[in-house]
Amino acid sequence: MKVGIIGCGAIANIITTSIVPENNGIDIAYFFDKDIERAENLASFAGGIAVLDFEEMLKNVDLVLECASPDSARYFAPRVLSEGRDMIVMSIGAFMDYEFYQNVEKIAKENNAKVHLPSGAIVGLDGIKAVAKFGLKEIKLVTRKSPKSLGKDIDKEEVLFEGKASEAVKEFPLNINVAATISIACQRDIDVKIIVDPKVDRNVHEITAKGDFGEFKTTTMNYPCSANPKTSMLAALSAIRLLKSFNETISVGM
Ligand SMILES: NC(=O)c1ccc[n+]([C@@H]2O[C@H](COP(=O)([O-])OP(=O)(O)OC[C@H]3O[C@@H](n4cnc5c(N)ncnc54)[C@H](O)[C@@H]3O)[C@@H](O)[C@H]2O)c1
Repeated sequence: MKVGIIGCGAIANIITTSIVPENNGIDIAYFFDKDIERAENLASFAGGIAVLDFEEMLKNVDLVLECASPDSARYFAPRVLSEGRDMIVMSIGAFMDYEFYQNVEKIAKENNAKVHLPSGAIVGLDGIKAVAKFGLKEIKLVTRKSPKSLGKDIDKEEVLFEGKASEAVKEFPLNINVAATISIACQRDIDVKIIVDPKVDRNVHEITAKGDFGEFKTTTMNYPCSANPKTSMLAALSAIRLLKSFNETISVGM
């Protein structure tokens, strides 16, 4: 499987440096970034090609991995899918725009392409998907981040946001992909609280779900990527796992 990457930052670096040395049939071969130097650095590590022209990459790959920004997901997804190429999208917040979601779904279906949204920086999506249509009565996310990761300079805990996921992704588009991921998984606009906390050095996501099935709570305490404190290591690792799953005969979990 030939893969091209849009956005050669923190996530792309972790994925590429993990996958390429394994030589396991996932050929990350093309790199595209608005900062060409970033694309060139990763291409040189991978023995791949840094492209200035996105179309050159598109015609040569089976799958495009977006790890750039919500705007780039919105811009490139329709183009990628209209060429029948599959896509992994990390900037999941883009999918909270229902019109965009439906348009992408339509183009993908018409061109026999698939869109994959990795579980990202949280655990528990398997359970959320399983109960979504079976009596899920309450689901909420509390996210706790350090002032550094939210670009704040404060010395005591502060609730930065309380409301629906659709509003959270508008106010914090690069920070709250997890709220979008959960909302899409259970097809509802979930309740979200974002707390900036000088006592934490990790990105902490606590999900609570209650309903006819019982109740569950998951807490993920993620180390941030050194290259980008907004991004959790686990987000990149979930995309690596997803890429590898395409070559597996038996899949476990979801
Ligand atoms: N799904 C999740 O759980 C999750 C978790 C963390 C981050 N993310 C998202 O993944 C994306 C990447 O995160 P990151 O930490 O690697 O970011 P990063 O800032 O480290 O890297 C992004 C790279 O994309 C490039 N870029 C941005 N817009 C572009 C465009 N229009 N065309 C070409 N290149 C472009 C930038 O130059 C940069 O090199 C972000 O949108 C982030 O919000 C998702």
